[in-house]
Amino acid sequence: MGRFIINGERQLSGVLDILAAKNSVLPLLAAAILTDEKVVLHNCPDITDVHNMLAILQSLGSVTSFENGVITIDSSNINNEIVEPKLAHELRSSIFLLGSILSKFNKAILSYPGGCEIGERPIDIHLKGLKELGVHITEEGGLIYCKNNKKITSNEIVLDIPSVGATENLMMASVFADGIVTLRNVAREPEIVDLQNFLNSMGAKIYGAGCGVIVIHGVKRLHGVEYTPIGDRIVAGTYMIAGAMCGGDITLKGINCEYLSSLVSKLSKTTCNIQVNNDIIRIKSKGRHPRLGKIDTMYYPGFPTDLQSQMSALGAVADGISIITENIFETRFKQIPEFRKMGAIVDIKGRTAIFEGVPKLYGAEVKAEDLRGGASLVLMGLYACGTTVVHDIKHIDRGYQSMEVDIRSLGGDIIRAD
Ligand code: EPZ
Repeated sequence: MGRFIINGERQLSGVLDILAAKNSVLPLLAAAILTDEKVVLHNCPDITDVHNMLAILQSLGSVTSFENGVITIDSSNINNEIVEPKLAHELRSSIFLLGSILSKFNKAILSYPGGCEIGERPIDIHLKGLKELGVHITEEGGLIYCKNNKKITSNEIVLDIPSVGATENLMMASVFADGIVTLRNVAREPEIVDLQNFLNSMGAKIYGAGCGVIVIHGVKRLHGVEYTPIGDRIVAGTYMIAGAMCGGDITLKGINCEYLSSLVSKLSKTTCNIQVNNDIIRIKSKGRHPRLGKIDTMYYPGFPTDLQSQMSALGAVADGISIITENIFETRFKQIPEFRKMGAIVDIKGRTAIFEGVPKLYGAEVKAEDLRGGASLVLMGLYACGTTVVHDIKHIDRGYQSMEVDIRSLGGDIIRAD
């Protein structure tokens, strides 16, 4: 299962190059099957979710390679519209394939994707949007059967929730529409803009991503492309919060600081000195933690749910009372009992965690339950006095490439053990 062994109380200083965003690479891999020509993605992280998505593409008939951060995909012989249930369960993002397989084959068979440990993760918004586009959908035995009896034509869809995955699925399902599809109340994350830019670089005609309305002018076909996805704002934000907690001087390269404006705004109110310059963010901290106040996770550009666990670690050691509310997912506080083992004083009321900041945390044996909760336990261990062992780090390896290597390059004392 793997564990990290961490000796805390060290400052973190150095320079890190941020790799491509997991939550960009995954939908881009789904979109890559929309062309018979070669697709190349650069600067990709060597993480489990990417390998699992590549395994699904291979099961559909794509030929892929992944070396030194470069992924190549050749879907010229793709011949299968069925996503293996076992593979689909490995990865929530398998649902992104629904729209692209439908566009490719006018039919798709997919099992319900694995819910992550953070909530039920329903897909009703995905299915409702596809049905409104005219896709015939039946569900039987845990499998979803989709069929386009005729080409998708001009339409206007309003999402009940600005779901990231549903927005991406409906964009990919509409790329070859015979007409114009307008999507309203869509997600506005940078990864949605990245998907639009990627598809347009392949010949699609999509406009408006990043705002509340996306307009897709259907095209006949897409061509191959070489593309570098945007930097991972959640990985960057994780190391910014680590720096704020432990003190030091960290420079992150390859990340558009605009994507982290909500975090920068929160951390700038503490003792951190944050300098931003195009795609470089520098955070200097004396390791003191004035009151964090109230944090509510919201849809982008609000405070990201994927940084809630990491910010909770900062709340555990911030002066006074910190109140963190998780408005996006229903069970994203699973790491809190582990926080308490390290000396955190925190009370959970519904979707709100109320922290009474403590000056010290103590190393302990703790267990990762999900990706970002696991990352937050590493941050706690880096701050705590003594030794912390974080078990089940397979959750962390889903979204962070060799987190221990990054942290050691910043001066942290961490090793990976079996
Ligand atoms: C994406 O998940 C990200 N994953 C998540 O990152 C991220 O937390 C989430 O967006 C929100 O930003 C990828 O991009 C691979 P949603 P997604 O659909 O698309 C509800 C990480 O740590 N909902 O925007 O699954 C849902 O339950 C991961 O990197 C429905 O009710 O998230 C949630 O409450 C975790 N019905 C809210 O919407 C639906 O059909 C937002 O979910 C779909 C979603």
